[in-house]
Amino acid sequence: MKLLALSLLVAFSAQAHAQPTLEATGRWQHQPVGTAPTPPMGWSSWNAFRVDITEQKVLDSARVIVDSGLAAAGYRSINVDDGWWLKRRTADGRLQVRTGLFPSAATGADTSLRPFTDRIHAMGLKAGLYTDIGRNACSQAYDADSPNLPEGTAAEREVGLMGFMRQDVALFFGEWNFDYLKVDGCGLSSYGRDRPHVASGQYREYKPTIVEGNINQSDVDGTRKLYAGLRDALREVRPRGDYVLSVCLWGTVNVRSWGQDHGTMWRTSRDIANSFSQMVHNFDTVATREFYAGPGRWNDPDMLEIGNGEFDGSHLLEARTHLGLWAIAAAPLMIGTDLSKASPALIDMLKAPEVIAINQDPAGHQGVIAYADSDRQILVKTLADGRKAVLLFNRTGVTAKFTLTAEHLKMDAAAPIALRDAWARADAGTFTGSKEFELQPREALLFTATGRHLLPRGYFVSERPGNVYVARDGIRALEQDPIGYRALASWSTTDNGGTRPAYAGWGGPRADSTPYDQALSVQRQVFRHGVGVLADSRLQVQVAPGSQRFTARVGVDDSTRGKTAAVSFEVWGDGRRLAATPPMKFNQPARELGADLRGVRLIELIARQHGAEPAGPVVVTWGEARIE
Ligand code: GAL
Repeated sequence: MKLLALSLLVAFSAQAHAQPTLEATGRWQHQPVGTAPTPPMGWSSWNAFRVDITEQKVLDSARVIVDSGLAAAGYRSINVDDGWWLKRRTADGRLQVRTGLFPSAATGADTSLRPFTDRIHAMGLKAGLYTDIGRNACSQAYDADSPNLPEGTAAEREVGLMGFMRQDVALFFGEWNFDYLKVDGCGLSSYGRDRPHVASGQYREYKPTIVEGNINQSDVDGTRKLYAGLRDALREVRPRGDYVLSVCLWGTVNVRSWGQDHGTMWRTSRDIANSFSQMVHNFDTVATREFYAGPGRWNDPDMLEIGNGEFDGSHLLEARTHLGLWAIAAAPLMIGTDLSKASPALIDMLKAPEVIAINQDPAGHQGVIAYADSDRQILVKTLADGRKAVLLFNRTGVTAKFTLTAEHLKMDAAAPIALRDAWARADAGTFTGSKEFELQPREALLFTATGRHLLPRGYFVSERPGNVYVARDGIRALEQDPIGYRALASWSTTDNGGTRPAYAGWGGPRADSTPYDQALSVQRQVFRHGVGVLADSRLQVQVAPGSQRFTARVGVDDSTRGKTAAVSFEVWGDGRRLAATPPMKFNQPARELGADLRGVRLIELIARQHGAEPAGPVVVTWGEARIE
C-alpha cells in the first residue's frame, strides 16, 4: 500500500509543472538562442522530396532561389532535411555522408559536407542541416522502405545526437560550417520495444519519453534538459550566435511554452501536409500562442506546402491563404516545393513583397485574434511603424460575410481608416467605423490599415505581444489545449477513435481573451482589450522609450475556476515595485492600477495568489492594460 502511494506520488510529481520565480527580476529574461530578429526564411528539402534527396536536387532549387529573386525577397537558408547520412563510424563516432546522394562529400575516407556548404555560401545563401536529439531519426522509423536510410550495424545506424552531442555540433557548425540546424525528436518517441524496426533488432530500444498527444506520459523536464544541452553546445561552438536552431518536437512536451528558451524557433504541431485542413490545423496551433513569439523567438507551424497538392499552381487561392496565414502569424517561411518545377505565377506569389514585409516586420509581433468563430477569423498584427496588418480568413467551403470594425484594429471609429491590399499592392479605399466583405471559400484577404489609434497617445499591451516574455504562466498542471481545428492527418484514417486536443499549453496568457478563451470580464464589466492570465504569474513587458504611464483595470475574472482565493496585482518597473492592489476576490469590481513609467524600460506584471485554491486556477484580467 505504502509502495503504491509512493509510486503514485512519484508519477504525479513528474507531471507537476515546474514554475520559475514569481518575483520580479528587473531584467528582460529572454536570452536569444541564435540570431533571427525576424522569422527565418528559406527552402527545405522535406516537403518536396522526403528522404529522396540528392545534392543536385537541392542545388537546383537553390539556383532557382537566386535566379528568380526569391533570395532577394528573403528566402536564403537552404536546408537539407532528413536523408543525408550513411552511418556513424563507430571507431571515432564521426558521421559519414551518403556520397552516392551528395557526390561533393566524397572528399576522402572521412566524407565532408563542407564542399556543399561552400557552394551554398558562394551563392550568397545560408546552409541548413537536420538531425535528431535521440539516437535515431524519423526516417528510420517512418520511411522504412527507403533505400536511403543509414546502413550497417544498429550502432552504425545511430546517427542522432544522443551520446555525440558536442562532437556532432562541432562537426556541423565548426568543420562543415552550417548556419542552421533542425533537431527532431523521433529518437525519443518512436523506438519503443513494440515497434517492428526495434523488435527486429535493426535499432536499439529507447523507451519513449515523448508520447504524442499525452502530456502526462511524456517527460517534459527530461526533454527540455536534452535541448538545453544542445543549446549550450551550440553557444560554445558558435559564441557569436550566428545560427538558427529549429526545435522540432511537434508541439509535444509543452515545447510551445519552453521552446523560446531553447531554440530560435520551435514546431507547435505535427507535420503539415499538402491538404487545406492540415494547414489550418497547423495554423491554429500557433494562433493562440501570441505571447510566446517575438524578435529572436518564433512559433513554427511548419514548412510551407505552397506548390504542392492543394496549394499547387492550380490552387493559387489556397496557396495565397496559406502564405497569408503564415505572414500574419510571423511564422518562419520555409518553401517546401521542388522549385525547378514551380510556375512563374507561384514564384511571384512567394515573393509578394508586401505580404513578406508583413511577415518580416521588424517589430516581430505575432498577429492577435480579433474575432473568431469556427468559420471565420480576423487577426491583427501591429507593425513597427504603427500601421496594422489585418487578415480576414474564411475557413469554410462556401462564401462568407465579414464585418471589419475599427475596434478590431484598435482604431478610432470616428476617424477614416485607409486599407491597402497586400496582395494587389494597391490602395483599397477608406472606411469609417466598419466595412463589409464577402470572401470566397477558403480565401484570406490581407491588408495593411492606417488610422487613428483608439488611444490618442498610447497602446494596449495586448497589441504588442512581441514585447512580452511569459516569465511565469501560472499553470499548475499541464493540460491539452482544446482550441484548434482538428484535421485528420493525411497519413491516418477515421478508424482510430477521432482526432483529439493534442498539444499542451492550455491556460497560457492571451491577448484580449482569458487563458481559456472567454471574454475578459470582471464583475460583469467586459474588457475588449487586455491581458488574460492565471494567478501566480509574471509577465515581463518591454516599454516603448518615452513612455509615461501604465494603467489597467484589474481583478479576478468572472470565468475563473477558483472562486475563493484572493489575488493581488503588482506592477514592477526595472526591479522596483511601482504599484499594487490589496488582495482581490471573485465578484469584486475591477480596480484601477496605475504606475509612473518615466525612465522605466521593463515592467513586470505580477498576479499573486493568496492561499490555496482547490477548485482550480484563478483567472485574472489586466483589463485595458495600456502604456501611454
Ligand atoms: C518529422 C519532421 C518533419 C521532417 C521529418 C523527417 O518528424 O516533423 O518536418 O523533418 O521528420 O523525417
